[in-house]
Amino acid sequence: MKVAVLGAAGGIGQALALLLKLNLPQGSEMALYDVAPVTPGVAKDLSHIPTSVQVTGFGGNDPAQVIQNADVVLISAGVARKPGMDRADLFNINAGIIKSLIEQVAKNAPTACIGVITNPVNTTVAIAAEVLKKAGVYNKNKLFGITTLDTIRAEEFIADLKGLKAEDLCVNVIGGHSGTTILPLLSQVQGVEFSTQEITDLTDRIQNAGTEVVLAKAGSGSATLSMARAACLFGVNLVKALSGKQGIIQNAYVDGGNKAAVFFSQPLLLGLNGIERVLPEGSLSDFEKEKKQAMLETLTADIKLGIEFANQ
Ligand code: LMR
Repeated sequence: MKVAVLGAAGGIGQALALLLKLNLPQGSEMALYDVAPVTPGVAKDLSHIPTSVQVTGFGGNDPAQVIQNADVVLISAGVARKPGMDRADLFNINAGIIKSLIEQVAKNAPTACIGVITNPVNTTVAIAAEVLKKAGVYNKNKLFGITTLDTIRAEEFIADLKGLKAEDLCVNVIGGHSGTTILPLLSQVQGVEFSTQEITDLTDRIQNAGTEVVLAKAGSGSATLSMARAACLFGVNLVKALSGKQGIIQNAYVDGGNKAAVFFSQPLLLGLNGIERVLPEGSLSDFEKEKKQAMLETLTADIKLGIEFANQ
């Protein structure tokens, strides 16, 4: 399997590349691309780590050779939030970056699975889908907005609150990847009881966890390390499923036929061709039903913005 990372010299990209070097199955190939000229150096640096994952890196304006024949393309390129900004404020810069990178993917690896990390994910995934449609290579089973960070945050925050181990928890986080569109279904968490106040507080914390990091970094950006960990988990699981491992379930923001919105994050069974089956989101408490309903206006507007941008 060949995995391409676009945006590989950035804060998320470098950490993601390191984690992939350590965690991709033996014999995988990893190709790094970034506009920054340091990218071949990042690849050289990683190549001294003794694993059997082969690494190459290219900097500059042409990602074609990195993307060529990739099975999986992970995209973290783009700018990050500063305090006071919402993810949607990144649209003006990141929309154009995603559009041109996806055009390159459509040309050079039209059958690749694509994982989008670049914010605002609610919108950039919609842009990616439109660009792929225009190029005649859209496969809705192969385009994913990576929302794994919401899942690992939910598991860690619950573990912290209840004195449990995060790895023993499994939280189904549905919707999108921004503020109120992030909806952790705490009523489905097995073996843990929450008070009404805990549910309100945890939901609020999970929805605003990205902002927690943006404020703590005080102007130097947003989550990079936890996002890299999340994207690596998703990417490695995807590679394993594409290679034939069965039973891998991941949540991601996809065009999966959810009645709520064109793109929606929910559990997916991954397989040899990307999404093998979209799994039901399960039953929701009254609180969650209300929150789901309340997110739809924002989520739908985020998606519409992406579709319009790609078609203008
Ligand atoms: C996150 O959830 O931390 C990322 O999407 C970055 C951000 O801007 O919040």
